[in-house]
Amino acid sequence: MGATNPQSRISNPDQFGRVAVVMGGSSAEREVSLDSGRNVLAALKARGVDAHAIDGIPALLDALRAGHFARVFNILHGQHGGGEDGVLQGALESLKVPYTGSGVLGSALSMDKTRSKRVWQSLGLPTPKFAALPRGSDVHAAAKQIGFPLIVKPACEGSSVGVTRVFEEAQLDNAVELAAKYPGDLLMETLIEGDELTVGILGREVLPSIHIVPKGAFYDYNAKYVAEDTQYLCPGLQGDAENELRALALAAFDALGCAGWGRVDVMRDRQGRNWLLEVNTAPGMTSHSLVPKAARTAGIDYEALCWRVLETSFAHNGANESRIPYPESRDSAGGAA
Ligand SMILES: Nc1ncnc2c1ncn2[C@@H]1O[C@H](COP(=O)(O)OP(=O)(O)O)[C@@H](O)[C@H]1O
Ligand SMILES: [Mg+2]
Repeated sequence: MGATNPQSRISNPDQFGRVAVVMGGSSAEREVSLDSGRNVLAALKARGVDAHAIDGIPALLDALRAGHFARVFNILHGQHGGGEDGVLQGALESLKVPYTGSGVLGSALSMDKTRSKRVWQSLGLPTPKFAALPRGSDVHAAAKQIGFPLIVKPACEGSSVGVTRVFEEAQLDNAVELAAKYPGDLLMETLIEGDELTVGILGREVLPSIHIVPKGAFYDYNAKYVAEDTQYLCPGLQGDAENELRALALAAFDALGCAGWGRVDVMRDRQGRNWLLEVNTAPGMTSHSLVPKAARTAGIDYEALCWRVLETSFAHNGANESRIPYPESRDSAGGAA
């Protein structure tokens, strides 16, 4: 492995120790997570890692307390114990078990799109104009403030569930009703018409952007996971435009205290301005997923990508949290649960 990927800092799979690949769980994105997890598990095993599937957080915590695992590859998606919102990360910190990806703060903040946007705004990073709508608020008044077209979404979901584009007032109530089926507040924001782009981050490396061209109106659940006719152009932009987009993505990731790996979703309007939508701290790793596509363009195949993500369990650069150092400074290479 090390020979094929010069940036890897772990060369022997034994250094990872026994790895729990935690997937599934109880969030709305369970099926996607299982799909991601099975792929990750197979890749790690193919690279000689002693990796095992675990479904959901309760089973993981039981196994960790029994001392079964040295570290965790987290490929759970979603909030409320879904594994991507900081709850799992806090539990793992308290058990002193290393894990992939962002820590408590970056995970929790990224899960909340509204608060992510507030942080970006405060730093002068571009994000569409928005209104945070607690349940029962006057959505029509908010829509007047934002103006049409706009988009309504649950503030804390993923996979485009509950997301509706609204072009006129008559469509607003249905959009709100759909988004309200999911827990948490609603987020209304200006609909950016233009191109959809996403940027993967791996360690401190920003991967080539992907320009997503869905066949339908936008990158909805169907386009993400089912349709075979969504087009992915990678790199999504060229020259300075690509470099600017990558720099913005890294700034957005750092602003939220994220670390390890992730993916930043951006809309680019017809004037060529980029607008930050959200950061995903445990992005999809299915055969349709974006980070694997971007990695491939950067010369990192799927197995190498999984290895690199697993390496993020050793240390984080740029995070505000102190994390467990690389094995050179540990007592035993594999670590102990
Ligand atoms: N402000 C916006 N303007 C245009 N399209 C948007 C906007 N917000 C979301 N979308 C569309 O909805 C999709 C899902 O929204 P996103 O905020 O990325 O949430 P999630 O992926 O977590 O469901 C995006 O990939 C994009 O296609
Ligand atoms: Mg998204």
